[in-house]
Amino acid sequence: MHTDVFFHPYEEIIDGLAEQNYAIINGLFLPEILQGLKLRMTKLRAHDRFKRAGIGQLNTFTVERAIRSDKIHWIKNDTSHPLESSFLQKIGELSTYLNRTCYTGIQNWEFHYACFEKGCFYKRHLDQFKNDESRKFSVVTYLNKNWKPKDGGALVLYVQNQEIHILPEFGKTVIFKSDVLEHEVLPARRNRSSITGWLR
Ligand code: OGA
Ligand code: MN
Repeated sequence: MHTDVFFHPYEEIIDGLAEQNYAIINGLFLPEILQGLKLRMTKLRAHDRFKRAGIGQLNTFTVERAIRSDKIHWIKNDTSHPLESSFLQKIGELSTYLNRTCYTGIQNWEFHYACFEKGCFYKRHLDQFKNDESRKFSVVTYLNKNWKPKDGGALVLYVQNQEIHILPEFGKTVIFKSDVLEHEVLPARRNRSSITGWLR
C-alpha cells in the first residue's frame, strides 16, 4: 500500500516495470472514457470495421489462424474522435513521464481495439518482430464488465518460472516490456474487448 501523500500513480508503473518487467494498474483511464470507447467499439463492429489480425512476418492465413484469432481496428493517431483523443492524450502523458524518469526514449505509439470473440485466443508470443525492434512497451486496457474466471480469456504473462494470470476486467491496464515478456491470451468463452498498443 502506498500512503505517501505525494505518491504519483505512474510511480507504480515504473516500479513494476523496473522490478518485474510488467505492471498492472486500475483506473489509469476514467471509467466514462472507457465506457464510451466500448460503445464506439460496438458501433465499429456493427459496421464491419474490424479485421482479422495478422502476426508480423508470418503471412499464410492458416498459420495465423492457428496462432491468433482476434479481430482489430486501428485507432488513428490524429483521430478526431474526442474519446479516442483523450485516450491517446493520456498515453502521451504516460510516455512523457516514462521518458523523463526512466530515459525510455519513447517517440511514438500505435493502438488498436481488439475483440476476441467466443473461442478466440492468442498463443504464447513476444510483441517484437525479428527485424523490427521498435516496440518498447505493450499497453493493454480491458473493457469487460463482470468478467468471471469461468469466462476464460486470461492474459498469461510468463515471468521467469512463473505464470501470472490476469483477468481482462473493465478498467484494468497491463503494461509490459515488449522485447522480453512472453505472453498468451487463453481462449475466451465470451466476447473479450480491449484497447491494445505499443509505445515505440
Ligand atoms: C497482443 C496481445 C494481450 C491481451 O495483442 O499482442 O498479446 O490481453 N494482447 O489482449
Ligand atoms: Mn502480444
